[in-house]
Amino acid sequence: MSMLDFDVLVTEQEQACTTRQFAEDIRAGLDRTGQKELPSKYFYDAVGSALFETISVMPEYGLTRADERVLRRHAGDLAELVAAPVIVCELGSGSGKKTRWILEALSRRERVFYYPIEISASALASCERELAQVDGVSVLGIESEYLDGLSEVAAKRKKGTHLLVLFLGSTIGNFDSGADRRFLQSVRQTLIPGDSLLLGADLVKPLDQLLAAYDDPAGVTAAFNLNLLARINRELDADFNLRQFEHVARFNGSTSSIEMHLRSKKQQTVTIARAEFMVQFREGETIWTESSHKYSADELKTVAAASGFDCKEQWIDQDWQFSESLFIAC
Ligand code: TRP
Repeated sequence: MSMLDFDVLVTEQEQACTTRQFAEDIRAGLDRTGQKELPSKYFYDAVGSALFETISVMPEYGLTRADERVLRRHAGDLAELVAAPVIVCELGSGSGKKTRWILEALSRRERVFYYPIEISASALASCERELAQVDGVSVLGIESEYLDGLSEVAAKRKKGTHLLVLFLGSTIGNFDSGADRRFLQSVRQTLIPGDSLLLGADLVKPLDQLLAAYDDPAGVTAAFNLNLLARINRELDADFNLRQFEHVARFNGSTSSIEMHLRSKKQQTVTIARAEFMVQFREGETIWTESSHKYSADELKTVAAASGFDCKEQWIDQDWQFSESLFIAC
């Protein structure tokens, strides 16, 4: 067998394994007696990632641009508050665009070692490409889950070096209620006093603004949500009729979260062949796909205290209420 054949074989085995996992997760989420659900991590296939890129430039979805603005404006302030020498570790590499401002500001003092942690090899590769040419920065990508990658970096660090962890883009808001604290507590456990965490979080804002951000009139967000069903059709040989489901975004005031659902327009049965599974929907029944919690600035301070951090500074964008909080491990 040539080297090339071996590579192909490995890729096919990996594919088979992830398809099996995908089928199991879909079946588990749709087989529930109460609220049906689908894991939001499956949004991001090639089509979903392209649609999300489009969402982030839609006028109604101000979140991504606000995140970039605050980081660009306050990267210098951040560099002054973080002790040197520092290594930077990012949970989820993103496109690298936002992180550039921070790395440039820090590298004005000394060389910076930057460890993006990401489960997607392709996302990691594009981040490495984007940031590798920044002067004074060494990029060392780690392909793993967030907390495993963070422990790996923490174990390697030299005495006297500080760790700055970046968790940007308000991913924290997509955790289930209570899981945000537990996750930050786990992050804290891998750190030592004096280390920092920069946390991006979207803030609560007027209802019409929030609803438009998650249900734009051009229908890009609806297409993004519905693509999850299209992906199940493509990869698991299912027969979801996309015209018989609709995107729903609603605000749950008691949890301060936008909830995304896919609603069945009629009573129907769907077959998911590769999961060996059939599922019935009542008219109006929904599949919950993601929630996006909207914080208050004070709530973030409480979350910091509850997970072993001191909230040292908060920068908030005034055009679109979005916060960047600097937490110091105490
Ligand atoms: N995590 C993003 C957010 O909470 C993803 C997102 C944007 C999203 N628009 C969506 C998820 C619509 C589902 C449906 O902002």
